[in-house]
Amino acid sequence: MTTFDIDRIRADFPILKREVHGQPLVYFDNAATTQKPRQVIDALVHYYEHYNANIHRGIHALAEEATARYEETRQKVADFIGAPGPECIVFTRNTTESINLVANAWGRKNLGEGDEIILSTMEHHSNLVPWQMLAQATGAKLRHIDIDDEGRLAGDSVEQLIGERAKLVAITHMSNVLGTVNPVRQIADLAHAQGALLLVDGAQSVPHLPVNVQELDCDFLAFSAHKMLGPTGVGVLYARHELLESMDPFLGGGEMIRRVGLEESTWNDVPWKFEAGTPNIGDVCAFGAALDYLQELGMEQVRAHEVSLAQQAMRRLSEVPGITIYGPKSDEARGGVVSFNLEDIHPHDLGTVLDRHGVAIRAGHHCAQPLMARLDVVATARASFYVYNKEEELDALIEGIQAAVRLFRAPAPTRT
Ligand SMILES: Cc1ncc(COP(=O)(O)O)c(C=O)c1O
Repeated sequence: MTTFDIDRIRADFPILKREVHGQPLVYFDNAATTQKPRQVIDALVHYYEHYNANIHRGIHALAEEATARYEETRQKVADFIGAPGPECIVFTRNTTESINLVANAWGRKNLGEGDEIILSTMEHHSNLVPWQMLAQATGAKLRHIDIDDEGRLAGDSVEQLIGERAKLVAITHMSNVLGTVNPVRQIADLAHAQGALLLVDGAQSVPHLPVNVQELDCDFLAFSAHKMLGPTGVGVLYARHELLESMDPFLGGGEMIRRVGLEESTWNDVPWKFEAGTPNIGDVCAFGAALDYLQELGMEQVRAHEVSLAQQAMRRLSEVPGITIYGPKSDEARGGVVSFNLEDIHPHDLGTVLDRHGVAIRAGHHCAQPLMARLDVVATARASFYVYNKEEELDALIEGIQAAVRLFRAPAPTRT
């Protein structure tokens, strides 16, 4: 049930006032990146207009202010995901970089010949390619949990694959294609029982549902600010404090050191040991405004709103002849991502027609080529929802789909 005042929320997003091809913009590509509210845009402008300075090293007022805001956002991130403290939060560029950080700084030190990294067939390339590179470098093996016909992780496969050789389980919390919400707490228990660690790809969960790292008992969590109303160029890696302490640095340079000699150096405390060079100060500060915005809405309500939109979308889409909808049907097992294919119509063609109707969706492999192969398709169309989307916008989606059907499935002209 939606409890939001949608019109009030929509008024905060300047971009929603624009038209595309003469039609009101209907933005259903939120799994790729979300739009930004005025509060976030203003916070970014405010940074550059009022306290732009480099952090941690200045002794002037601007530098102190910028440092305070940057570190304040770290605390907000910790609060948002229920982390024990800000020292567990590392700022990166995006989810991809956070996962690469773990693969390099933890993986190269802890994995060897015969060790196993457990993934699934529904992973985004970001949570697959870094592990392939690590496996090639260390001799570790990759194993993949399969999915069932509904697009859920196959239960027996989960238990079978997380065996005593498993050193790391790296799994998405919510699939960016199927919308499946995976039972990560159960997976954490299975992994820990075998002495393995759990990395959760939270790119699609942290923005859309309440996530508490202590309740999930995960060891690492990666996500991106740009998928949760924040600016591009900011990612987060949460890791248990003792893991961060034991890991080697990922990148070397300024900021991440304590003392530097000609031959060798010592490292800064965590989390700064993992933040080499000047970070993305302005965008991190503006990310704080995005977190405030979501906190005010309440993540339970965000989830309820999206579940409601997804259910309505699936119900209306299922009335279109020749449609296949992927992923689980029930509320608790899925989020606000709906992927589908129309018989005889390529998703790119559909996306182009929808664009003419002002509707932005995604069409393609969604950086999940192994999943496409598993589903036996080359691509899907995907509509994904966020806090500013409303029920009425589904009309434009359905009308656009009907127009595509008329265009591409028109009967061939008969010769007389
Ligand atoms: C599940 C999942 N993981 C990882 C990523 C990568 O995020 P980023 O491109 O911000 O690094 C995405 C982006 O779509 C995603 O959906």
